[in-house]
Amino acid sequence: MSGSLDFSPRILMGPGPSNVDARVLQAMALPPIGHLDPEFIKIMERIKTMLREVMLTDNELTIPVSGTGSAGMEAALCNLIEPGDRCVVCVHGVFGGRMAEICARYGAEVVTVEAPWGQPTDPDDVSQALAEGATKLVAIVHAETSTGVLQPLEEISRITHQAGVLLVVDTVASLGGHPVRVDEWGIDVCYSGTQKCLSIPPGLAPITFSPQAVAALDSRPTKVANWYLDMSLVRHYWGEERTYHHTAPVNALYGFHEGLRLVLAEGLEARWSRHQANHELLVAGLTEMGLEMLPDPNYRLWSLNAVRIPEWVDDVAVRQRLLNEYDIEIGGGLGDLKGNVWRIGLMGASSTPNNVLMLLGALNEILD
Ligand SMILES: Cc1ncc(COP(=O)(O)O)c(C=O)c1O
Repeated sequence: MSGSLDFSPRILMGPGPSNVDARVLQAMALPPIGHLDPEFIKIMERIKTMLREVMLTDNELTIPVSGTGSAGMEAALCNLIEPGDRCVVCVHGVFGGRMAEICARYGAEVVTVEAPWGQPTDPDDVSQALAEGATKLVAIVHAETSTGVLQPLEEISRITHQAGVLLVVDTVASLGGHPVRVDEWGIDVCYSGTQKCLSIPPGLAPITFSPQAVAALDSRPTKVANWYLDMSLVRHYWGEERTYHHTAPVNALYGFHEGLRLVLAEGLEARWSRHQANHELLVAGLTEMGLEMLPDPNYRLWSLNAVRIPEWVDDVAVRQRLLNEYDIEIGGGLGDLKGNVWRIGLMGASSTPNNVLMLLGALNEILD
């Protein structure tokens, strides 16, 4: 019938969203209840507890922000930045660039530390940038979805804290698929998105603030420039007071609750191992076909595999055939890498040996 939501289900192996377990979708189909209903408040409390477990943190202020991963990025930055603050932003792909752009919009003095796309940021470069001026925060992407690079964080965290500076980390493409140890790694603000390794539909951004980050928020002389994402207000809805700020996306939060439950039921270690094993299976298959990965083996994401497109291959035609003939979605390159790489996601429920083998089989047929 015209106008109905009629499409064939896809195997989602792009940079997100990933496939969603039916139990999450069923949870989202439950009838909404009031966002101040005592039953809903119980759900909120369980969400906060589970989210702390998934983010490996004891931080009190650990909540899902209403909005996608970019809302998490904006929330992390707008709550800390005051006009004139010096911010060191590590840029090794599109999303580091987005962080720099957001910092500038909040009036920060932005200092970028650049790394070639396909490589991680060098901690010595961060050290140098910090030595050149009093700094409010260092911002960095843990899993750069545009390049498939995993950024090691421990050394950068050490350098940042030695300088008495706050560390903001984007884990949109790693939380739930790679180890993300918020407390152990000394991350002050860590945010993510639901639609990648957590395998929950897009629409929420988990975020956590360390006591130092909360202190920075509490001591700012100026108001947070973004009302919707102002944590000094939003936290009173998620805290004991339950003060209305904005209407919580109730059904999205049901799905979030169920998705977090599934992550913890699988176990973080088991989930990380699954992501690693399926990544290795994919890389072995692609290598056998003569394809090359963009990042060095030491810095490859398990969740997002950036593969160089051979010169003789038509990028768009291959992706169209995968979608139209096999119902498989993979991603094209972003920014400077447009036309040069495919981005193959193995995230959350999409990270299965079956999916890997199906994609390799389809690619083999198409490239033959
Ligand atoms: C590393 C990273 N940060 C931020 C974002 C932005 O998230 P969203 O598109 O959910 O707003 C993305 C999305 O792909 C991402 O991969």
